[in-house]
Amino acid sequence: MKRLLFLLPLCLVACTAPKASYSSIQDPLVRDNFVFADEQLRVLLNETEAALDTVTITETTKVEPRTISPDGALLLATPRDWTSGFFPGTLWYMYEKSGDAFWKEKAIKFTDYLESVKTFKGTHDLGFMINCSYGNGLRLADVPGYKDIMLEAARSLSTRFNPTVGCIRSWDGGKWQFPVIIDNMMNLELLFWASKVSGDPVFRDIAVTHANTTMANHFRPDYSSYHVVDYDAAGDGKPIQFNTHQGYADESAWGRGQAWGLYGFTMCYRETGDPNYLKQAEGIAQFILNNKNWPEDGVFYWDFDAPEIPDEPRDVSASAIAASALYELSTMSETNGGQYLAAADKIVKSISEKYRNGVGELHGFLTNSSVGHRPGNVEVSVPLNYADYYFIEALVRKERLAKGEPVVPLGE
Ligand code: GLY
Repeated sequence: MKRLLFLLPLCLVACTAPKASYSSIQDPLVRDNFVFADEQLRVLLNETEAALDTVTITETTKVEPRTISPDGALLLATPRDWTSGFFPGTLWYMYEKSGDAFWKEKAIKFTDYLESVKTFKGTHDLGFMINCSYGNGLRLADVPGYKDIMLEAARSLSTRFNPTVGCIRSWDGGKWQFPVIIDNMMNLELLFWASKVSGDPVFRDIAVTHANTTMANHFRPDYSSYHVVDYDAAGDGKPIQFNTHQGYADESAWGRGQAWGLYGFTMCYRETGDPNYLKQAEGIAQFILNNKNWPEDGVFYWDFDAPEIPDEPRDVSASAIAASALYELSTMSETNGGQYLAAADKIVKSISEKYRNGVGELHGFLTNSSVGHRPGNVEVSVPLNYADYYFIEALVRKERLAKGEPVVPLGE
């Protein structure tokens, strides 16, 4: 017994100490962030696993770290929460950059919690949930079964498509008939993937139709976007309301919404080569980068039209999503690549220097100062798992660019 007690501290060190040196990472900023993330995410993992040790895990158990509560407690999310895929996705990126079996084992564990989501037809968020988790897992480790789970999820997501409207329905509740939110562009990546893998063009057709309908109806002449467009699904399928839900006002430019649109149309151009999508992505990028309320450090206010700027909360999540998208767009644009690269670099540098937590702080989340839903006063100036995911993804893309590799490898 004495001998076992003697070994305990050694085990604790072995279980929590970073194993990888990340010395193969060329870009110093990326390397510094991965060394930090290796230590910090172990804190989040340890706390999450400790919480899960005390419960019986079912399909409705809160299993994935999402954010913190107003009194500072760690909050976990159920598999059906729209954010459930981001933590496993972050763990996959840790495995990609470290090659350490520890991260692979944890990534598989937290990905596998989400399997039941594949048949859930009550949300448009399946792309986020399944592509970030299983999608990265399939790309990096070809885990048996992942492909079938993703295809099943793509079939479930496709059931929400309405051909009269030409869109996938976002939410089932609220004051709308057939609401479509700009965020929904992100879910199309799973459908493009599904057509490539299955050979069935239907998934891709749905994605293209959704993107075209969104391009026609969600955007203002300056390339800023509405958050919610409501469609007359029972009638002619045309738009009937233009609203916000998480932004400042119906006519404002919600920060994260602009980032979702930028990322979504950049991804659509990658998947189709349609120059209209490139034009759209560049239009959105120019709206953001030329906006008088895009701050000097590049880190978005929660809404470009928030009334008290500069005394308004920043949203690190929106900036991280935009940075990741801008790295990809920088490789596509004929004339503005340098501008997009510089903007992405500025954002990741600012997040690293100003919005990163200290080791052990905030339960092990990487970043702070994100905004979930400001009008509802929910998740304001807190860490969010999707801010961390897109921050890490942006860093991975920055490193690929430094090494002259494709910024988004096939299969991602
Ligand atoms: N898709 C939900 C959000 O961006 O908050």
